[in-house]
Amino acid sequence: MIDLGTFERVVFFTGAGISVESGIPTYRGSGGVWAAYDYRQYACQEAFLRDPDKVWEFHEVRRRRVGACEPNPGHRAIAAFQERRPATRVVTQNIDGLHARAGATDVIELHGSLWRLRCERCGSVEPSTDVPLPSRKHACGAWYRPDIVWFGDALSRATIDAALAAISACDALVAVGTSAVVYPAAELPLVARRRGARLIEVNPEETPLSDAYDVHLRGKAGDVLPELVASVVGAT
Ligand code: APR
Repeated sequence: MIDLGTFERVVFFTGAGISVESGIPTYRGSGGVWAAYDYRQYACQEAFLRDPDKVWEFHEVRRRRVGACEPNPGHRAIAAFQERRPATRVVTQNIDGLHARAGATDVIELHGSLWRLRCERCGSVEPSTDVPLPSRKHACGAWYRPDIVWFGDALSRATIDAALAAISACDALVAVGTSAVVYPAAELPLVARRRGARLIEVNPEETPLSDAYDVHLRGKAGDVLPELVASVVGAT
């Protein structure tokens, strides 16, 4: 097993696979969210403008299900490693909030969060964990929408800049549980590679970007990550 303790500035770049062992389905592959739901009906601005309540029904079900899930040993291993190596950054595509609930700090959420609401009119963003929502509309009268990057939405410049700053400075990037098919997120590990970072892929399966990685740890995040951080964190 590669010793992550030999690196100074590690970035963990995570996708839906890290939350599988918490009981949250991935988006693709068997049992994936997009196998059950057509994202064009539930997770894009056009669908929201067409039928905001239908889109909220889908997201309120996700908030209820995800809200009942707990961080798993994979999330906890990353948080424990970051506690001992404060230069560590977490860049996630996930909207479930489980990294922060495991104790990770300064998590960069590329695709937003199920646990924030954004007003369609005034753009105000506020945290919200209520299930069900007391109201789907802001005090100004306009609809809330989930503060999530939907298909067709642009990522915020500030979020991209924060992710690029962390990834450009790292000497090791550990990609965990991502299929590497959604851009621009998917190409971020290649930025690290161009800067000479060591690339480590934690995924039971190959991905289209596997050839770009130096090390392939073919296993579940909850099994692999505690072992990967053990030299710094100790046996967990
Ligand atoms: N541990 C690690 N990886 C796992 C595990 C596990 N226990 N189980 C599955 N995986 C891997 C799968 O092999 C797959 O490569 O997790 C990956 C999940 O891929 P996706 O479902 O495509 O999730 P992700 O890569 O995060 O999707 C990116 O797509 O729909 C959009 O915005 C959404 O953020 C999401 C983006």
